Amino acid sequence: MTSHSTPQLKILFASSEAQPLIKTGGLADVAGSLPIALSNRGQDVRLVLPAYPQAVKMAIPLTTATTLELPGYRGTVRVLEGALNGRVPIYLIDAPGLFDRPGNPYTDADGIDWGDNAKRFALFCRAIVVISLNRAGLNWRPDLVHCNDWQTGLVPALLAGEGSRPATVFTIHNLGYQGNFDRATFDQLELAENLWHHNALEFHNNFSLIKGGIAFADFITTVSPTYAREILTPALGYGLEGLLRYRSDRLRGVLNGIDYGVWDPASDPAIPQHYDTASFGLKKVNKTHLQRELGLPVKDDALLFGHIGRLVEQKGADLIMQILPGLLKFAHVQLVILGSGDPALERYLRQECGKHPDKIAVVIGYNEPLAHRIEAGSDIFLMPSRYEPCGLNQLYSLRYGTVPIVHRTGGLADTVIDATPRNLLNGSATGFVFNWPDLASIWRTIDSAIAFYGRPEIWWRKLAVNGMKQDFSWNSSAQHYLEIYREAIDSPAPNPLAWRSLL
Ligand code: ADP
Ligand code: GLC
Repeated sequence: MTSHSTPQLKILFASSEAQPLIKTGGLADVAGSLPIALSNRGQDVRLVLPAYPQAVKMAIPLTTATTLELPGYRGTVRVLEGALNGRVPIYLIDAPGLFDRPGNPYTDADGIDWGDNAKRFALFCRAIVVISLNRAGLNWRPDLVHCNDWQTGLVPALLAGEGSRPATVFTIHNLGYQGNFDRATFDQLELAENLWHHNALEFHNNFSLIKGGIAFADFITTVSPTYAREILTPALGYGLEGLLRYRSDRLRGVLNGIDYGVWDPASDPAIPQHYDTASFGLKKVNKTHLQRELGLPVKDDALLFGHIGRLVEQKGADLIMQILPGLLKFAHVQLVILGSGDPALERYLRQECGKHPDKIAVVIGYNEPLAHRIEAGSDIFLMPSRYEPCGLNQLYSLRYGTVPIVHRTGGLADTVIDATPRNLLNGSATGFVFNWPDLASIWRTIDSAIAFYGRPEIWWRKLAVNGMKQDFSWNSSAQHYLEIYREAIDSPAPNPLAWRSLL
């Protein structure tokens, strides 16, 4: 689908992770699929990522496109070039002293943040800046750089000091992760002294890399309309709500899309039984396979709850722990959990699984194919996130006819329609939504979901199939980004160092 009705844009898409090269969470899903959606719309989009060993392995074949000498790094930085999906060019920034190590992009194998993360991602940002100013020898000058999360937050700040620069858009995927470091680190990075300013990077006597994106980008986006409003409040603004309110004329909420090429129960290679809206009844086969795979009693009339995610407070993992004893009281309920995170939660879940092997299966770790099978095999997907900028698992669940139970927050509020009697009658309901992340509110909703599952099967099928029919593809969101890109190019934002005051 190529549209040439408007001029083609050159877009550099910068991210610290992208599926299928390397993934720790939803940012990778977005960075692996939005550039492709933009390319499908005829845009010249290129992706830039650090050259972590796993990303290099996955991206082969690669060539060395150019080499760079950058401040703060002893040695030559290579820019390796490959392609995403055989189509979207990828640049991998190869600075072995900073990126060639085991573990994940942000932490060592024990989950401890790398001590030099500020240095690592500052170097990444400097490489992005050189490429985006066409000073890298790639003979390509983007019209716009789309930055994502704090790891790329320095890019808009560094570009703002340049006379002729590409436009910048900065997307907040999760304001809870800000990339905050101390003054000594700021000095080590040899950044311009004027960036140590409350309008710029300084943040309560430390400095914040995400603030670079929020203060300096021409446009700021976040990943759902509701979260775009929530981050303007003290409850979810994490101290940045004042700055965000100041910039709210340039803040937009754009819902993430998902890649139905990867997440489609009619063709998913990871699941044992394919199905679609017309053959919803076949979904049960995936349930029995999943029960067998995870050692649960094989019963196709069990009500199987699934959960996948980081075991952290944001995701309400502790709430799941608290409702567990109550769930176990229902004879027909089973629960499958896949995740890793807080060691205390991991321990608790393992223990509970040991005590109730006929009711609970817990897999601690990261397992992409199993995530697909849980989506296909569960009846209900439990997502009690305290806050959720967008959330992807509820979107995958909807596609897989796995009815989501979610907290009315952020992207969950924007994507799941509660099964009230009225919504059921008019056919708009797609899941169950509770208003508060507390036990009373969750239980009211779980009780009504369990009761609803007990009604004649046709009702459940109607709800699940309605979810399967929703369209959360990138179609409209990619279009929305293109409109924001054009606005950013046409109306550059003033440099915050020239703002008269702030707050
Ligand atoms: P977040 O990015 O905040 O973790 P999202 O819902 O946006 O949350 O995205 C999480 C992504 O990571 C989804 O694609 C989900 O399937 C995947 N995921 C999370 N934990 C695991 C895990 N333990 N194993 C496999 N996939 C996981
Ligand atoms: C973050 C958010 C999640 C969102 C994802 C992709 O990790 O926590 O809600 O879906 O980014 O935008």
